[in-house]
Amino acid sequence: MVRLFVNNLPVEVPLNSTVLAACESVGIEVPRFCYHERLSVAGNCRSCLVEVFKAPKPIVACATPVMNGMHVFTDTPLVKKAREGVFEFLLKNHPLDCPICDQGGECDLQDQSFYFGGDISRFFEAKRSVEDKNVGPLIRTIMTRCIHCTRCVRFATDVAGIESFGTTNRGETTEVGSYIERLFDSEMSGNIIDLCPVGALTSKPYSFVARPWELFQEDSIDLSDSLGSNLSISHRFGEIKRVGPRINDSLNGEWISDKARFAFDGLLSNLRNSSQKNLNTFPLHQVENSSLQSFLTFLAASKVKGKQKNINFILNENLDLESLYLYKTLSQQISANFVSLSNSSSKDFSISSGFNNKITSTKTSDLCILVGVDPRSEGVILNSLIREGVICGKITEVHKVGSSSSLPTYRSFHNSLETSFLKELQNGTSALSLKLSRAQTPKIIFGSLLSKNFKTSTFFELLKNLNSNLQELASVNFLPEKANSYGLTSLNAISKNSLNLKRAQLNIIIGFDKIELKNLLTENQIKNSIFNLSPDVFFNESFLGTQMMAASFERAGSFLNAEGRYQKTSKFNSPEISSLFDKELGLIAFWLSNFKLLMPKFSSLPVSNLVPIYNGSNKKVCVDQKFFLQTKSCKNKIYSTRLKTLISDFYRTDFISNNSKTMLSCSTARRRTSVNFFDSIFD
Ligand code: SF4
Ligand code: SF4
Ligand code: FES
Repeated sequence: MVRLFVNNLPVEVPLNSTVLAACESVGIEVPRFCYHERLSVAGNCRSCLVEVFKAPKPIVACATPVMNGMHVFTDTPLVKKAREGVFEFLLKNHPLDCPICDQGGECDLQDQSFYFGGDISRFFEAKRSVEDKNVGPLIRTIMTRCIHCTRCVRFATDVAGIESFGTTNRGETTEVGSYIERLFDSEMSGNIIDLCPVGALTSKPYSFVARPWELFQEDSIDLSDSLGSNLSISHRFGEIKRVGPRINDSLNGEWISDKARFAFDGLLSNLRNSSQKNLNTFPLHQVENSSLQSFLTFLAASKVKGKQKNINFILNENLDLESLYLYKTLSQQISANFVSLSNSSSKDFSISSGFNNKITSTKTSDLCILVGVDPRSEGVILNSLIREGVICGKITEVHKVGSSSSLPTYRSFHNSLETSFLKELQNGTSALSLKLSRAQTPKIIFGSLLSKNFKTSTFFELLKNLNSNLQELASVNFLPEKANSYGLTSLNAISKNSLNLKRAQLNIIIGFDKIELKNLLTENQIKNSIFNLSPDVFFNESFLGTQMMAASFERAGSFLNAEGRYQKTSKFNSPEISSLFDKELGLIAFWLSNFKLLMPKFSSLPVSNLVPIYNGSNKKVCVDQKFFLQTKSCKNKIYSTRLKTLISDFYRTDFISNNSKTMLSCSTARRRTSVNFFDSIFD
C-alpha cells in the first residue's frame, strides 16, 4: 500500500494505483474523457489535470502512478485554470448542437464542461468540420463532435479485435475512423456507443427516438445466448426504446453483444407499435376466439384422459423456469413426457449442462480447446474473455476441433473437422495430447453441436482419460445453446432422441417459432402436433390450435445461465403483453383444473412461489456433480462425423432476431462485406 494526501486528506491505495484512483477512493471527482476503467490508459485528453506539490506543472491524474508521501491538490486556482483551458480547447471545434444531439442529457462533455469548464470562449474562427463515416447499420457517426479521446479505437483494438479502427492525420486534421470506409465488423460493436463520451458515436436505431429523461429503466438479462449477460432495458409506455449493459464483473463486465442490444425491435410489443405493421394481422385478438377453446375442449375430452404414454410436452429452452415448472407439473399430471428438443438438456447429459466453473475463469486457463463450438456466434462474451486471456498471455494456445468458422480476434489452431480427432487425442497420437497432459489449468469447452453427435457417456469416458486435471469438473465445460438450457436440464427433461415422436398421439409444443420448429421436427412430427403456444407473431398455421404467448424477454421470469447462475428478467409495463402472460397462466390453470389437480387459488399465487427449488436462491444451482466421476466404462464406439457449424448467421438465431429488421440489416451488411472482401482478393 502507498500512503499519500489528496487535498490534505490521508489516503492509502495499493501500489501502482493511479492518482485518479487515489482521488476517487476519497470521493473526489476528477473530470475525465479518455480514461475508462476497462480500457488501456491513453492520457490524451488532458482533462484530468491535478496539481502535485513540488511538481513544476499540472500532471494528468489518470496516467500518473501514486508515490509515498505525495501531496495532490484538485481544487487549487492552478488546477481550475488548467481545466478551463483544456475544456476551452476541447470545445474549440465542437459544434455544440446539443438540442438536436442524441447524447443530450447524458453527455459527459455537456456535464463536465458545465462543472469544470469556463464560461467564455476566445475562439471566433470558423469551426472545422469532419465528414461522417459509415461503419454499418448499428452505429451512427457525427464525427465533427469527436474529441479524439480514442476510447473507441482502444475498444476496437483491445477488446473487439478490430485493427482497422484508428486515428489518421495529426493536429487539427486528426480524424477517427477506418482509413478506408468499411463495416465495424464485430459482434460487440454496439459497446462503442456507450464508451463514446460525446455524441460522435450514437445508436442508429435509437436516433431521435427518445430523450433519456423520458425513459424508465428495468433490469433484465440477455436471452439470445446461454451466458445471460446483464442488461438494462429502457422503455417508454411498454415499448422498449433501447437496451444497454448492466455492469456485472463476475459475468459480462460492461460489454454485451449486438444481438442483445439491438434485436429488441423483433419483439411483439415493438412490432405492434411499428408503423410498418398491419395492425389487423396482429394476432392478440386470436387469443379470445377459436383455437384456444377448441383445444381445451379436445384436451378435456376422453381422448387424452387417463394414463396416456404417448403425449409429449415439447418445451423450448428459452422459456423461464416458472413456466417450465408449471408445464412439468402439468405433464406429470397427465402422464405425458416432458421433452426437450435438444440433446444437451436430456437427463443423461446432466453434468454437461453448463460451465462447471465460472465463465470468467476462462481467461485464466493456460490451454483452451474448443470442441464443436463457435464462441464467436454462440457466446460473444465468452469469445471476448478468450481474447482477453490470449492478449494477457495467460492462454498460451487456443485449439479448435470441428467448426472451421474463423475466430479472427485471436490466434487459434484448427485441428480437425471430424469427431474422430477426439479419439486421437485420447490415444496420444495427436500433438495436442501432450500439451493437454502438461497443462495446469486446461479448459475444454464443447457446444451443443457435439452433444447432438455423440452419446454423452462416450464423450465423458474419453475426456476422463485425457488428463488427470480433467477429473476436476472445472476443466470440462459445456456451452448450451439457449438461455435456459441449464434450467430445463435441471428439471430433468428427456431428450427427443429417446422418444419416438412419430408415434406420439399428441405433441403439445410450447414456445417455438416456425423456423425453429421446422429445423427441429420433421413434417410428420409437426403434423402430429396438436397445439402450439408460440411467441411468433406469424405462426398460426397447420395446428389444431395456436395461441400467442409473451416472449420470455417480455415477462418476468427466472433463468439459469450456462454456469447455473440464477437470474431474473423483469416485466416492463405493457398491458397487452401482461394480458398475454396472464392468459397463458390462465390456460395452464384451466388445464390443471381439467385434470383435477388440487391447486386452490392458483391464479392469485405469485408464479415464483410455485417454483420451490429456485425461489430466493442466488447460488449456482448444481445438477448431479458426481455424474462425471461415476460414468461407467464406455462401450460406445467413437464414430467419425463431421461437426458442422451450429449457427450460420449470428444475427438471426431465434424468433426475436428473425423478426428484427436491425438484425436483418446487420446480416446483409456482413454478407456484403465478406463478398466484397473475397472479390478484392480474387480480383
Ligand atoms: Fe452537446 Fe454533448 Fe452532443 Fe456535443 S456531444 S452537441 S456537448 S450533447
Ligand atoms: Fe472518443 Fe467518441 Fe471520438 Fe471515439 S468517436 S475518439 S470515443 S469522442
Ligand atoms: Fe486523463 Fe484523459 S482522462 S488524460
